[in-house]
Amino acid sequence: MKDSGVDGRIIELFRSGDGVVSGAALSRLLGVSRTAVWKHVKGLRASGYLIEAVPSKGYRLVSSPKVLTQLDLSAGLETKRVGSSIICLKETESTNKVAFTLAEEGAAEGTVVIADAQSAGKGRLGRIWLSPPGVNLYCSVVLRPAIAPMAACQLTFLSVVAVARAIESCTTLTPQIKWPNDILINGKKVAGLLNEMNAETEKVNFVVLGIGVNLNLDMASISESLLRHPATSLLQEGGVEVDRLAFTRALLVELDRLYDVFLAEGEAPVRAEWLERSAIKGRRVKVSQGEREFVGMVQGVDAFGALLVQLSDGKVETVLSGDVALV
Ligand code: BTN
Repeated sequence: MKDSGVDGRIIELFRSGDGVVSGAALSRLLGVSRTAVWKHVKGLRASGYLIEAVPSKGYRLVSSPKVLTQLDLSAGLETKRVGSSIICLKETESTNKVAFTLAEEGAAEGTVVIADAQSAGKGRLGRIWLSPPGVNLYCSVVLRPAIAPMAACQLTFLSVVAVARAIESCTTLTPQIKWPNDILINGKKVAGLLNEMNAETEKVNFVVLGIGVNLNLDMASISESLLRHPATSLLQEGGVEVDRLAFTRALLVELDRLYDVFLAEGEAPVRAEWLERSAIKGRRVKVSQGEREFVGMVQGVDAFGALLVQLSDGKVETVLSGDVALV
């Protein structure tokens, strides 16, 4: 559980109680005076929390700000590493860029950067990731595993599986994974992951896991010419709005659990779950690597995240980068 200060503990108490929490209870549980409780409630209201005073009973949290806040995300968050520090921004160029700079300056493992909107969201292969405000999740997480640079791509499995689990826990939809790092619903891309790393020859200094999930994006508002692949959002597929806060908290918890397994047992268990969920195992695919294109049958992925594709002559190609499409 993170120490998010008195404000964070107030939010936590509102959430854990059955609605109204008395000023006396808040004062006792937080170990501060009634006047201090009142000042904190006032501060929270000024930050966009709607807190109702219920006469002779106490306070009730009616709603949180529409944007994700550090307080809401970290209150009672049961993680060991992920979310050790959470930074929420209204708008930035790219959360990956911010997280990378913070990591270079020594940010702790588990630091999370979230933005409501990105003006230059980074996609794979130098592409742009559409990042309008108020609807989706744009999140980057700093990890500092003691692994060799070659092994860092294994962390892609981790973020992909975490997103898939979070989708399952917050919706009734069934996510599918497409190598290397796309998450599809009904064959359309709903999330993308971009991991960036800072390393020396033999050791990783840090990895930034960049995660973008289309939660409540109205697909009708996006011009198709802006989309390279058929894209969708959880709202579009499920027909119900996704609670951004609940989704993000679920994602941070899943990332933390999987990272814990990765550190304790290595990449194999996470890769096994990745394969189980993969939409392309045993399927015929077309691989495009710049000018080069070939078709083959997907056999699996190796321990370094490379896709193993069997060609018609029986030879197995190890695909480290490129685009893959089902044929
Ligand atoms: C892809 O092309 O599929 C990867 C998209 C990754 C987008 C996310 S959004 C949060 C983080 N910040 C970025 O600038 N990119 C990643």
